[in-house]
Amino acid sequence: MAQSPVVTVTQDDDIAWVEISNPPVNASSTAVRAGLAHAVTEVRGARVAILTCAGRTFVAGGDMSEFDRPAEEPHLPDVVQMIEDSDTPFVAAMHGSVLGGGFEIAMGCTWRIAAPGTKFGLPEVNVGLIPGAGGTQRAPRLIGMQATIDMACSGQILDADQMLALGGIDKVVLGDLKAAARAFAADLPQRPTKVRDREAVALDTEAYAAAEATLKKRAKGQQSSLRNLEALQWAALPFAEGQPKERARHLELRQSPESKALRYAFFAERAVSKPQAIEGVAPRDLHHIAIVGGGLMGAGIAMACLTGGLRVTLIERDADAVSAARDRVARLIAGGVKRGKISEAKQADLLARLVTTDSYSDAAQTDLAIEAVFEDLDVKKAVFAQLAKVMSGDAILATNTSYLDPTLIFEGIRNLSRCLGLHFFSPAHVMKLLEIVRTPDTSTEVLATGFALGKRLRKVSVLSGICDGFIGNRMLAAYRREAEYLLADGALPHQVDAAMRAQGLPMGPFELQDLTGLQIAWANRKRQAATRDPKERYERIADTVCEMDRLGQRARKGWYKYSEGSRSPERDPEVERLIEDYSAQRGIRRRSYTAQEISDRLLAVLANEGARIVEEGIAERAEDVDMVKLHGYGFPRWRGGPMHLAAETGWEKTQKIMQMVADESPDSWVIAAQPENP
Ligand code: NAI
Repeated sequence: MAQSPVVTVTQDDDIAWVEISNPPVNASSTAVRAGLAHAVTEVRGARVAILTCAGRTFVAGGDMSEFDRPAEEPHLPDVVQMIEDSDTPFVAAMHGSVLGGGFEIAMGCTWRIAAPGTKFGLPEVNVGLIPGAGGTQRAPRLIGMQATIDMACSGQILDADQMLALGGIDKVVLGDLKAAARAFAADLPQRPTKVRDREAVALDTEAYAAAEATLKKRAKGQQSSLRNLEALQWAALPFAEGQPKERARHLELRQSPESKALRYAFFAERAVSKPQAIEGVAPRDLHHIAIVGGGLMGAGIAMACLTGGLRVTLIERDADAVSAARDRVARLIAGGVKRGKISEAKQADLLARLVTTDSYSDAAQTDLAIEAVFEDLDVKKAVFAQLAKVMSGDAILATNTSYLDPTLIFEGIRNLSRCLGLHFFSPAHVMKLLEIVRTPDTSTEVLATGFALGKRLRKVSVLSGICDGFIGNRMLAAYRREAEYLLADGALPHQVDAAMRAQGLPMGPFELQDLTGLQIAWANRKRQAATRDPKERYERIADTVCEMDRLGQRARKGWYKYSEGSRSPERDPEVERLIEDYSAQRGIRRRSYTAQEISDRLLAVLANEGARIVEEGIAERAEDVDMVKLHGYGFPRWRGGPMHLAAETGWEKTQKIMQMVADESPDSWVIAAQPENP
């Protein structure tokens, strides 16, 4: 039989070298599995076979693009077993990431050696799955139950030293991996018992319940960590019984809504950072960033840029504001040190790359400026006028505005092709989302540079056009609007919040407003008042709450009340009375809503607004909308996002609910057409 193009076998004296070459990460695709199965027959007669991978890593997982189709032969569990049963023993010589199917293959080998820094993991849990090729059955037999729980249920990654200490590998080898493998093969230890024939000890009832409780608490509705825990218990059965159970569960979970949503999110994250608009366009190199405004956002953005390896010049209004801004960034860095995320040497390096100043001329040499001053058009315009004076004529100018129209902010600037919005989310050094806002003039090179910056800052960048609130805050505004209509029509804040938490959201809309403060949305509603369609339903409940100085947790009262020192919302009869009186004054006969009715409406409104955003060309595709919700607004990853959810349950259902929502509040909603490729 001919050699497989992705798996080659080379005989070298009494050693057979088996090499997988399936870039970029040597995923265990059908071709790799077939190549390995063939290799097992080819190594017959050799004293030892050494399994290595070309490129930057050992097998770093399965090929997820195959998971939507029925599993194709040869199946990985069979291939692993063939390797394990081979008369010629296998040595896995590993580097890079040994993940999922990669670790399962390694466990089928007789010995395992690894380069320093090699990482091991069973990350199937992150895509709603359990391992499907003996991972849950061999790992407890090889490294013990506790370490396997950490890997399979919590997605923990272990390094080569930890793996060595657990007995999962035989040796950490220095220097050239192949030379080290040859040396290892020259003096092989005694052949150990096959991993599958070893014994595993299951958790006792008490330990199981404790592990289950911990995982449940962390999972926030996601099931896969619990499914992994269940499967690990089967390792106490004979392998021949446990393995088929694992396989069956793995295949069943591939079809689950949770796994589909998580796989969708995995691919969507990669897709959104490569929008069609910048295909084939090379970004500029960035070295030095100016940030204007060192308040909440500016300080966080500075922190993100510093940890991304950039030089930062932070500009504030006057000496006092400069020193406050510097303290703010220094505190963020110190926080990183305290949490063990930043070493002390790194702290000094970050601070050395930070200049704080009240002089715009210090921005002269920077490649890109990000403005994060007060949300006021005139203030922002003045900032850009100053920046344009000192920076080079093609240096990039970016605004972090939440709601203002960037084309108005950049009015009067020469060379508008260098202007764009870079909308970070608070706290900017933590939140993953970056909305990259293009104006009609932004050049593709400048956009591509925005995306390259996002990547450098480890953000999920999403391209947005201009509309009120861009993608995320526009969706939020629609969601809140319907939530407030529900209050006027009969629901109470705690009912709405509970209904959304039951859908896997970390918080409902009213708790969230209390947490972030009610004043920004209030200011927005005032700003929009002049242009709002007078026919659109407008309920004044939130305004009244604000007028009563109930501005949220910081004021210890908002939609809820808060006891001294507590962040737990408590129902407040004053607010509930206010809502009921409001409905009465408006002549609305209050009705009751089930949790399902509430969440159906709010999810439909989100999906509908998302579809409109795509329809209007503000977002390129549904994925963009969903990634905004996942990474900026805490929408549960295991549900994929509101557009994915609507596509999975059927857009007809969303449209039907939307029709009901629109009938309940006439002239207030535009129903989107069903997306073409949901
Ligand atoms: P902030 O009030 O905490 O900070 C603004 C800072 O800008 C202050 O330190 C102020 O001294 C400084 N500043 C004002 N005028 C200046 C000038 N002419 N030159 C230099 N510095 C000046 O405000 P925050 O929350 O940081 O917001 C900043 C911008 O970011 C706003 O446009 C806001 O809409 C936007 N944004 C805010 C988010 C949030 O969650 N707070 C999220 C995303 C965007």
